[in-house]
Amino acid sequence: MKYSARYAQIETLKTPCLVIGLHEGRRGDEALEALDRAGGGRLGRILRQGDFKGCAGETQLLYDLEGLGARRLMLLGLGKRKDFGARTFAKAVNKAVSALQKANLSQAALLVPEGDDSYALVREAVLAAAEALYRFDDCKSEADSPKKPLRQLHFLTRDRRHLRRMQKACAHGQAMAAGTALAKDLANLPGNICTPAYLADQARKLARGKRKLKVSVLEEKDMQKLGMGALLSVSRGSRQPAKLIVLEYRGGKTGSRPVALIGKGLTFDAGGISIKPAQAMDEMKYDMCGAASVLGTLAACVELELPINVVGVIPSSENLPDGDANKPGDIVTSMSGKTIEVLNTDAEGRLILCDALTYTERFKPAAVIDIATLTGACIVALGHQASGLMANDERLAEEIKQASEASNDRVWQLPLWDEYREQLKSNFADIANIGGRAAGTITAAAFLSHFTESFKWAHLDIAGTAWRSGNNKGATGRPVPLLTQFLMKRCKVVD
Ligand code: BES
Ligand code: MN
Ligand code: ZN
Repeated sequence: MKYSARYAQIETLKTPCLVIGLHEGRRGDEALEALDRAGGGRLGRILRQGDFKGCAGETQLLYDLEGLGARRLMLLGLGKRKDFGARTFAKAVNKAVSALQKANLSQAALLVPEGDDSYALVREAVLAAAEALYRFDDCKSEADSPKKPLRQLHFLTRDRRHLRRMQKACAHGQAMAAGTALAKDLANLPGNICTPAYLADQARKLARGKRKLKVSVLEEKDMQKLGMGALLSVSRGSRQPAKLIVLEYRGGKTGSRPVALIGKGLTFDAGGISIKPAQAMDEMKYDMCGAASVLGTLAACVELELPINVVGVIPSSENLPDGDANKPGDIVTSMSGKTIEVLNTDAEGRLILCDALTYTERFKPAAVIDIATLTGACIVALGHQASGLMANDERLAEEIKQASEASNDRVWQLPLWDEYREQLKSNFADIANIGGRAAGTITAAAFLSHFTESFKWAHLDIAGTAWRSGNNKGATGRPVPLLTQFLMKRCKVVD
């Protein structure tokens, strides 16, 4: 799929389909009036019949409008003008692209509405279009992809001054969409294919031929030497060996401190001896979505050649019940030297993350963000709209909130006061790996905070946002847009 930005005279532009957005009660829309004049007033008559309301995402295909260069005209509802922004535009474009695909059109042109930030509108539109066109059929014997796929979408402006910004937005959007799609693909794969070793291979594949990206993989014997007793205790219950995947992207100045992204890579989480109920357990193949988002974000860094140093660290394992698995009450020693009482073997994410966090100290990171499908409690708290954000540094938290606004990839901050640590007291070890029913998302972060004292750190709990359940089950690729925006802003590629 190709996206491009163009200046055009919409009345005469030759295209199989011209998509034009209309607000509810669309009086005085210049673009619409120009088209209506060129078409001899027929468009106005159709609209006065009132069938098309302009609700956000509403679409209507019109044929045979004489006087226009376009073979078809698609009306696209943009909702109320006062509520309009990149978020609404993205929703509308998603619907428009689905409708174009359904109509078997391989090419279309979409007029970008005037007046708002054209960079944000176009970048969101590219991501929304890619979302509408995404299919995952790697595991089906016959692909269910459309016979005549949409191949090209032009974003049009009637004002040349917007063109440069729109072109940049296309390039950025395309890289973010590709990173998001990579994250979705990896996440949608089942646990029997996407194992820790598979993730390591995919990381190596990502780095192949890329001068600025280096990948190394630590094996269990390496982890043993480093004393990663917490991580290894989780993988002891699985036949698949754990991997610690380290990606180093060097786009910035030599010696400038990197941003570290740490992604939880549980390729399947059955809970271990504290086994989960059978209901929807298949979805625990998605317990590596943090890892997938790190790989997707690094792919976007490479494609955009961002002038910044980034380290990706992915601890990856399965969590299964086994004769050699962690047992409730077991005490393990983490790489930091802190001992942990494993009161619930299903709180395994924090066990693999704590050693990855300690390992990350060696990179002297400017900031660390971990991304994890860490707690079911986060879904109870925030549902499927926002990822949970917790941090030990308010400025870093603010920076992430800003990136989240700018990328339409929502987060909501929860407090991380010291008092929450009291819930993690253990009678037998330095800390326990669970903190009881109250504030489960926060106590998970409070656990991690014991391993982040030497750097600025933020934690994203993506349990509610990384995938959709139900009929439309599938990975979302979040928070690749947020992380990419965060990095782009840090190195001033966007303002
Ligand atoms: N991977 C799960 C969290 C999860 C559960 C994400 C459901 C999305 C949907 C994590 O490893 C886990 O099992 N967490 C436990 C923690 C508890 C034992 C303190 C949970 O949330 O139940
Ligand atoms: Mn678990
Ligand atoms: Zn888990």
